[in-house]
Amino acid sequence: MALAVLARAEQASSLIVAEADSSAGRFARALGLFDVAEGREVAWQGDAGRTVLVQRFSSFEGIESTASKISKMVLGDPETEDTRKAIYYVLVELLRNVVQHSRDPLGGVVGAQLMNERQGYKRPTVQVTVGDAGIGVFEALKRMHPTLSGPQEGLEKALWPHYSGTFEEGRTGAGQNAGLGLFFIAEMAKLVGGRLLLASRGAAIQFWVDPDNWEKHTLEVLSPSGVGFPGTLVTFELPLDSFQDYEGLIGTIQDRARERTPNRVLHRWVQFVDVLPADVHRIKVTVGAEDTVAAKELSDRIVEKVFRKIPMALDFSGLSICTQSYLHALLFETVRTAWARQTPLYVVGAKPGVKSGVELLENYALGG
Ligand SMILES: Nc1ncnc2c1ncn2[C@@H]1O[C@H](COP(=O)(O)OP(=O)(O)O)[C@@H](O)[C@H]1O
Ligand SMILES: [Mg+2]
Repeated sequence: MALAVLARAEQASSLIVAEADSSAGRFARALGLFDVAEGREVAWQGDAGRTVLVQRFSSFEGIESTASKISKMVLGDPETEDTRKAIYYVLVELLRNVVQHSRDPLGGVVGAQLMNERQGYKRPTVQVTVGDAGIGVFEALKRMHPTLSGPQEGLEKALWPHYSGTFEEGRTGAGQNAGLGLFFIAEMAKLVGGRLLLASRGAAIQFWVDPDNWEKHTLEVLSPSGVGFPGTLVTFELPLDSFQDYEGLIGTIQDRARERTPNRVLHRWVQFVDVLPADVHRIKVTVGAEDTVAAKELSDRIVEKVFRKIPMALDFSGLSICTQSYLHALLFETVRTAWARQTPLYVVGAKPGVKSGVELLENYALGG
């Protein structure tokens, strides 16, 4: 994956030499490495249920479908549907980070694979990796966090809730970002006995859970000090036998985020209803709308109405998985404006995980 990121022909054409007859060469070809490097469309085939081809992505519009396709490719079995949702969630957040923060004009590269005994894994494990050759995490954080000592501290703090390159420390969000993406992924790794590797310019850290004692978490800084990656490379691993309940997992992480959020006053403004009062304007939040720019546009339209004291309702009935980042982009300003203007705001048809996500958002958006 690291090679695929760096070998894209637009930036370094001679980085990979194709020795087609060697076993490494055959593996690289089967993986789609040369296609990715040369910018050719990679066919979605490969060894279904095990290796997933490496893919490029570069825009918000592609995030949802890429994450959805990859998660289905590696976990197509109905029995692993909850694990698939978790992997989808992680992929969406990581792809979004590349598009939002990396400033790599080529976008990023994503791949996933099922690891088992042949790859040295005792438990069957899904592994996903997302990489870019962009500015790196420290550079992205520096302007809003001028007291950061360097890349290593940057990586460690990027895992904190509400820590983002898009707003200053102490706040809980800006228009499109809540700083909760990597926090959710790191907490997920803890709860499923997984592993998270973050390598960026100037530092690399690895976080994992002791398979024999899940209470034991280790955050290791990879040595030698300063070893990193010319861009950002993130790998997440989730053992397949570890959990079955996606809603429960997300709920627990939301609770942990709430515990770690400064919470001075608690307001409840959003009303969760089954039946809407008459004459309330309803907006349907569509499936696969993991496009934060589109979410922001929709949000601006709603905010404008809420500001004019027009009651609004958001209908989430079509949505079963929805990242906290997406909810944030859609609702952060909306909820704050509704509260400030005392305009009724309704939510209908939200599944439990989506509902608790809206409650978490309300908690930090109005908690300050
Ligand atoms: N691929 C990346 N390239 C550069 N910076 C990144 C990348 N991924 C994450 N970051 C940095 O880490 C911060 C935290 O990311 P995240 O937890 O997803 O929160 P958010 O995306 O809402 O800001 C980002 O704001 C950004 O500064
Ligand atoms: Mg993010």
